[in-house]
Amino acid sequence: MNRAVAIDGPAASGKSTVAKRLADQLGLVMVNSGAMYRAVTWQVLQLGIAPEDTPAIISALEKMEIDAGQKDNRSTISINGQLLEEELRASEVNNAVSFVAAVPEVREKLVQLQRDYLEKNDVVMEGRDIGSVVFPDTPYKLYIDASEEVRRARRAADGEADAVAARDARDSNRKTAPLKISEGAIVIDSSDLGVEEVVQAAKEALLKLGWIG
Ligand code: DC
Repeated sequence: MNRAVAIDGPAASGKSTVAKRLADQLGLVMVNSGAMYRAVTWQVLQLGIAPEDTPAIISALEKMEIDAGQKDNRSTISINGQLLEEELRASEVNNAVSFVAAVPEVREKLVQLQRDYLEKNDVVMEGRDIGSVVFPDTPYKLYIDASEEVRRARRAADGEADAVAARDARDSNRKTAPLKISEGAIVIDSSDLGVEEVVQAAKEALLKLGWIG
């Protein structure tokens, strides 16, 4: 049976960085589930659909060919044959993604693709509902947090305009699979920690949760 490390947390908490390091050090495939929600959002915007227009999103979703793959131990995402990368971080996508991610039909489709990764590989997957919905039975659950101030500053330092507070509020208050600390998760606050310290704390947490390298 393959193993899944679930990492949840709010926007810009540092979970992607930790997930990548853990993937490299523990020999796992790193799956960025947020990129999948961003990809569907990008396609929705390309089609001129408003992010609040749920019926139009659902009907567009039915026609989307979503290919969740991997390259060099990182997940990749293509829609209708187009590999999506930098475009996923556009501010239009930042602003719209938590509306699209609140649509249950979108979540259902993407959760299935996320679970499929575990069929072939051990994975570390980061997102909002990985420990609560995608892999509720995994014992290896982490929740990476950081203060709102620190998260806003991190996004600004990356040159990204991202209203993290508004996005978090929508991600935490939606009906389907809201962001929350799932039962059994170990919480790491990265506000005052450097990257290496967070990675170290994550590895110690995994050992506590019974991970054997
Ligand atoms: O991790 P991120 O900031 O790239 O995620 C983008 C958006 O996708 C986030 O605002 C909420 C949504 N998301 C989600 O609803 N569930 C996940 N498992 C991952 C992301």
